[in-house]
Amino acid sequence: MHSTELPLAFLILMFSNTSENCMSRLHITAVEGEPFYLKYCRSSSEHKNEKNTRWCYQPNGSLEQIELNPSNSPRIAFHEYALEFWPVELSDSGSYFLKMGNDTHEWKLNVIRRNKHNCFTEKQVNTRTVEVKKHLMIKCETPYYRKLINKTSLYKNCEQIEIRGNTFEKNAEFEDQGYYTCVFSLHYNGKLFNVTKTFNVTIAGDYNSITPVLLGPKFNQIEVELGKSEQLNCSALLNKDDTVYWNFRKENETDHNLHEEQEIKIKTSEGKWHASRILRIENINENNLNFLYNCTLASKGGTDVRVFILVRKENVDIPGHIFTRGMITAVFILVAVVGIVTVCAIYRVDLALFYRHLIGRDETLTDGKTYDAFVSYLRECRPESYEEHAFAVEVLPSVLEKHFGYKLCIFERDVLPGGAVVDEVHSLIEKSRRLIIVLSQSYMSNEVRYELESGLHEALVERKIKIILIEFTPVSDFMFLPQSLELLKSHQVLKWKADKSLSYNSRFWKNLRYLMPAKKIKPGRDESEVLPVLSWT
Ligand SMILES: *[C@@H]1O[C@H](CO)[C@@H](O)[C@H](O)[C@H]1NC(C)=O
Ligand SMILES: *[C@@H]1O[C@H](CO)[C@@H](O)[C@H](O)[C@H]1NC(C)=O
Ligand SMILES: *[C@@H]1O[C@H](CO)[C@@H](O)[C@H](O)[C@H]1NC(C)=O
Ligand SMILES: *[C@@H]1O[C@H](CO)[C@@H](O)[C@H](O)[C@H]1NC(C)=O
Ligand SMILES: *[C@@H]1O[C@H](CO)[C@@H](O)[C@H](O)[C@H]1NC(C)=O
Ligand SMILES: *[C@@H]1O[C@H](CO)[C@@H](O)[C@H](O)[C@H]1NC(C)=O
Ligand SMILES: *[C@@H]1O[C@H](CO)[C@@H](O)[C@H](O)[C@H]1NC(C)=O
Ligand SMILES: *[C@@H]1O[C@H](CO)[C@@H](O)[C@H](O)[C@H]1NC(C)=O
Repeated sequence: MHSTELPLAFLILMFSNTSENCMSRLHITAVEGEPFYLKYCRSSSEHKNEKNTRWCYQPNGSLEQIELNPSNSPRIAFHEYALEFWPVELSDSGSYFLKMGNDTHEWKLNVIRRNKHNCFTEKQVNTRTVEVKKHLMIKCETPYYRKLINKTSLYKNCEQIEIRGNTFEKNAEFEDQGYYTCVFSLHYNGKLFNVTKTFNVTIAGDYNSITPVLLGPKFNQIEVELGKSEQLNCSALLNKDDTVYWNFRKENETDHNLHEEQEIKIKTSEGKWHASRILRIENINENNLNFLYNCTLASKGGTDVRVFILVRKENVDIPGHIFTRGMITAVFILVAVVGIVTVCAIYRVDLALFYRHLIGRDETLTDGKTYDAFVSYLRECRPESYEEHAFAVEVLPSVLEKHFGYKLCIFERDVLPGGAVVDEVHSLIEKSRRLIIVLSQSYMSNEVRYELESGLHEALVERKIKIILIEFTPVSDFMFLPQSLELLKSHQVLKWKADKSLSYNSRFWKNLRYLMPAKKIKPGRDESEVLPVLSWT
């Protein structure tokens, strides 16, 4: 033995002989099934003879004291002012007295039920708090039983952990929090007993080192819908005495739809304090928009602020009104296009005439023909066909020639008498750009059509002349028409309506002009809007 260890060993010996591991408390708790002892605390000045001591037991609810005798109860032993239980049972609860001469010491023992599902009993734990990063040490020792210990093991939350000797130590981390149970296996009288000792270890955060901080971004923009409610949640990591609150009142104005809730402060498992505070905004109105709601953290170290602003929610599935707008635009464009096309179709003739007028087109200059049109009509002037005759000989020339400046070939007027009529007609048709046929029932039945047929056919086939049919009176039976005429397109057939076609601007004349070759009109000829001579009987 080293010289320094000698006094230490002596000291230990001395204390173990006197009041080591003694219990002076009145109320003592033990767990059933474990070895247990009650030991009297002797003052060093006492010189009593242990032989004169007696142990007495008074069960719960009983007035009678029983003197204990180890020879009667095998679980009991006396040892240096100590009463030992091997082990203690629930029925051992009660008052115990150690009587030494005139002195008596009392203990009230409460034996509690063991938790059979756990390696420790919750009611019998020692609480220990260790600051994080500080030294955590669990030392498994039970000095009273020291000499009897066969094995010492340590359990953390009932799972065995390694220990060196009887000590577990490390730098505390938050994960180290838990129940540490030391199990001492004792050999006594050839039997194995376990004594347990449990520490409830709490790892505490280092409060002083926390810099309080509000969580989340500095600036929060929250999209809301008017009329809805919103909760602004402000949370912070802070110290116990710090506080979080909302600034939301406008000057001289309280908003009745704003409600600041209580601060909720909790201690996290890591030993830090976590606070959150809700600002509830109900039935959001315009005033709530674009206002800065500030959440403030007040601490000894200063303040921290998070700004929240409510903005109107843009409709995410916008297509709604854009779609409608698009559709309306599309429909408008469609309608416009259809309208333009329709107008063009209706006023095709007017537009074409206007266009001719605009560019001053004249297709009559270079083709070497003499007449703009050869007028074919019923030449016989019978009473029933007088109107028809007058139309061909008077109305047509008066309008087309006098007003619009065309040159017509009218057989009766322009063909000199005598000569071969058919040849004459043929050559005149060849000199004409158009062939105007004034068609009527009478015309159909007259030989004149046979007279025309050859020249007509040739002209059509050779495509040297275009034919304009004027249906003077409604023709019911077109079967009489030469087949070649059926090739004409319908718009080349003009219907004369005596009542509607009088004005120069009427559709009839426009259509006729449209079918006539383009020719410059010398202006200022005859300004009157209505045909001068058109009164029939
Ligand atoms: C004995 O009495 C103590 C209080 O003196 C009580 O706490 C305990 O539950 C009682 N035990 C039994 C077994 O009656
Ligand atoms: C115990 O008390 C009695 C009287 O009550 C007394 O006569 C006696 O001397 C005392 N004994 C001791 C050891 O103090
Ligand atoms: C152990 O300590 C924690 C706090 O540190 C406490 O919440 C828990 O109740 C304690 N357990 C027992 C059994 O005392
Ligand atoms: C513990 O007990 C076993 C027998 O049960 C024995 O072999 C062993 O040596 C003992 N260990 C100590 C340290 O007393
Ligand atoms: C004592 O504890 C050990 C584990 O350390 C266990 O295996 C054994 O069963 C226990 N004995 C008693 C009597 O509780
Ligand atoms: C507020 O936020 C904190 C932390 O982000 C959270 O723990 C808390 O439950 C939230 N409160 C509500 C009412 O959502
Ligand atoms: C919130 O803070 C901003 C600056 O961060 C300040 O301009 C505004 O007035 C504050 N609002 C309230 C209600 O205190
Ligand atoms: C708010 O009220 C105070 C008196 O209570 C007044 O002096 C101040 O001008 C008011 N401010 C506004 C913005 O109305």
